[in-house]
Amino acid sequence: MRTVPPARSPIAPSSIARGATAVFTAGGRRGLLGSLLELYGADAGLLANSGTAALTLALRAARASGRDTAAFPAYCCYDLVTAAVGAGVRVLLYDVVPETLEPDESSLERVLDRGARVLVGAHLFGVPMSADRLRERCLESDVLFIEDAAQEAGSHVAGRRAGAFGSFTVLSFGRGKGLTGGSGGALLARDDHGTDLLRGIGDLSPGGRGAGDVATATALWVLGRPALFGLPRAIPGLHVGETVYRPPTEPTGISAAAASIVRANMRLLPGEVDARSRTATDLIAACPPDSSVRPVRPHRDDVEAGWLRLPVLIDDEVVASAAATAGRLGIASGYAKPLSEVEAVRPLLVDPAGTYPGASRLATALFTLPTHGWLSERDRDALERWLGGLKRGATG
Ligand SMILES: Cc1ncc(COP(=O)(O)O)c(C=O)c1O
Repeated sequence: MRTVPPARSPIAPSSIARGATAVFTAGGRRGLLGSLLELYGADAGLLANSGTAALTLALRAARASGRDTAAFPAYCCYDLVTAAVGAGVRVLLYDVVPETLEPDESSLERVLDRGARVLVGAHLFGVPMSADRLRERCLESDVLFIEDAAQEAGSHVAGRRAGAFGSFTVLSFGRGKGLTGGSGGALLARDDHGTDLLRGIGDLSPGGRGAGDVATATALWVLGRPALFGLPRAIPGLHVGETVYRPPTEPTGISAAAASIVRANMRLLPGEVDARSRTATDLIAACPPDSSVRPVRPHRDDVEAGWLRLPVLIDDEVVASAAATAGRLGIASGYAKPLSEVEAVRPLLVDPAGTYPGASRLATALFTLPTHGWLSERDRDALERWLGGLKRGATG
């Protein structure tokens, strides 16, 4: 039965073939780093085995320079907690505005007042935050800005690629990201601050040849399509569509195969961004004005979303019926809890009693709709009907 995946990363068979070749030649990494530095306007960087590893290394470098307290958005991927545990930093959380996914300004000022020396900002679902303003704010107070661009997916802020603003930028090439290699990540550095800290990180242990990444990329290409996605979704061990906390592992370099696959997939980015943008525009137009569902979208004219997915906020009274009818349409709920409720972060929290109303609301009200290039006309119609059905007072 047709089951739409919530997201897809574009992959071409020729990219998988490049990855398979790299398993034997063990080459392909240098070209990728150069392309990423150019795409994101960075000065230097390293390729790691995951986005989590890249963030862990950035936080460790910060800690080694005396910055041992980092501010995280209270609503985000739990991998941020993994990185904090792996780096041994203390954590302050700031709230997020549900309607825009921007940092809540007063909450942000509070964590800076309370001693955050590092600020991690994250673009979520391809709806970018105001990374330009965060950079300015961090420069004013000598705070290290780490821009988590794992989910930027082709977004732009004030005419520049999202991911082009942090002293450090974190990228992920895991499954479901804008660009994938099966696994992998990158840490890019810009300005004196970022590049000095990057130099202190030194060499990573090599990432292996990556036969497993070739298998993952092949599985994503074959099983990720709607005709077959029901199969992996039915296997509980794969945790498809779930966010689970993963304990830290020691960062290594990226595998040769993942680097080659990512680089070869880069040429597919513009087509996929166009397809996602057209779908997101149509779905936003299909949200009835009197309904219980409101799309989350950038609130600035000079910001362009990459729409990795279309996030929407759903009123309490229709959440149950929305979840029950999401079925096989690729609609997924967002992160189930604020980071403050992820058990592993508790010992690291500077303010364990802190509350985050925006993040708590997002944990119950945020759903994401698929936007990717594997959607058919019928899938889009079904998504529009789902949106149209969430009228105020609807009981499902
Ligand atoms: C915002 C964000 N940061 C970091 C990561 C970590 O990336 P990886 O899965 O490559 O470790 C993810 C992955 O889902 C993410 O969504």
